[in-house]
Amino acid sequence: MGVGIDALHFYTPRYMLDLRLLARERAVDPQKYLTGLGQEWMSIAPPDEDIVTMAATAATDAIRGVDPHSIAMVLFATESAVDHSKAAGVWVHHLLELPRTCRVVEVKQACYSGVCALQLALPYIRQHPDKKVLLLTSDIARYGLNTPGEPTQGAAACAALLSASPRLVAIEPEAGYYTDHVMDFWRPTYLQEAIVDGKYSTRIYLTALGEAWAHYQMESKRALSDHARFCYHTPFARMAQKAHERLVSINDSAPIAPETLARHINASLVYGKKLGNSYTASLFISLASLLEQTEEDLSSCRIGLFSYGSGCVAEYFSALVQPGYRRHLATDAHALLLSSRRPLSIGDYEQFYQYALPQDEGRHATPRHRTGAFRFQGVEAHERLYERCPLSPAHA
Ligand code: CAA
Repeated sequence: MGVGIDALHFYTPRYMLDLRLLARERAVDPQKYLTGLGQEWMSIAPPDEDIVTMAATAATDAIRGVDPHSIAMVLFATESAVDHSKAAGVWVHHLLELPRTCRVVEVKQACYSGVCALQLALPYIRQHPDKKVLLLTSDIARYGLNTPGEPTQGAAACAALLSASPRLVAIEPEAGYYTDHVMDFWRPTYLQEAIVDGKYSTRIYLTALGEAWAHYQMESKRALSDHARFCYHTPFARMAQKAHERLVSINDSAPIAPETLARHINASLVYGKKLGNSYTASLFISLASLLEQTEEDLSSCRIGLFSYGSGCVAEYFSALVQPGYRRHLATDAHALLLSSRRPLSIGDYEQFYQYALPQDEGRHATPRHRTGAFRFQGVEAHERLYERCPLSPAHA
């Protein structure tokens, strides 16, 4: 019996920044961002959106028509936690009115934790094939204004409904792992932005890929040629391209032909180029992009997936695309969501970026902007308050 992803929906905020505009403002050649990083736009969360509202909106679509009593667990992966103690998923559980018998927990290891949660959920589903697990990955990527990391920000959440006999992809049991104590990227609990040694992080990413692949190969005895397509954790598109070039070079002394590189990964990069880095959600959005933006039918193809979380933990694993998957994709809804975002001026972007609620016991309301199906209203006595919004994200 196969286990894996039955439904896959993402949500990204309704505002975006054109990297051409950012480049002009920062006196950088726009080609550095467009070609050097491979990015075009990044989604920017307004003050009344956070990881909870984004994840709850994505989850609303993922569980539509599903018996809520079949959802046994909500796993919430993030590195943008809104509380040291309470799991962000408990707010989502409340907003979606899930049954009280459904367990909720938050998991963390930088961008890797979503894949870790996926792998931890699958044995449970094998044991309980009538149950489903709602896997949420949600993050707001933040670096300092006017730093090299600034053009690699972004925001999004992905909701993956995990089940037995999944309609989209079945996850294969073999996987390769790599863990090492490195300080390439981290965020102390008292800081709002990540600290990053950018160039070092890209080198560690590639080392981790080689090591995780070697472990996967040992476990699975498969060759690279057994994989038809590839999805990578994508902080920016050029990183995924470099990763794939590296993986091919490890396995084959000939450099990869540009058309082969394009066939292997280009479809997986379409969404990320438009919304930027989404940390834990990034690999799942690459998978949605691959499935939805590949014209050819990928039924029964094997996809290689690589997850990298700074600090660092990495995993290479694989999935088999299920026959008939195309009927269950959210292609049109995702296209509408991406095309309905509003471009921000530099001034508005910096205002969103600098917005912070006071940290006292008072009641503080956030200003109202365009959001998804839920919005973060503000705080009262240090409690975060959320509300449902009447319009669906696609039509607001
Ligand atoms: N035209 C075309 N290309 C240009 C150019 C121009 N005018 N100017 C520069 N470039 C190219 C450079 O040659 C370079 O390409 P190569 O790497 O292929 O040589 C590319 O544009 C970027 O230029 P720099 O290396 O000079 O850029 P930078 O040092 O200013 O910043 C960065 C790049 C280090 C990735 C920075 O954006 C950063 O720190 N980002 C955040 C960290 C990150 O994303 N790390 C990725 C791995 S870690 C991870 O994956 C986890 C995670 O999500 C954070």
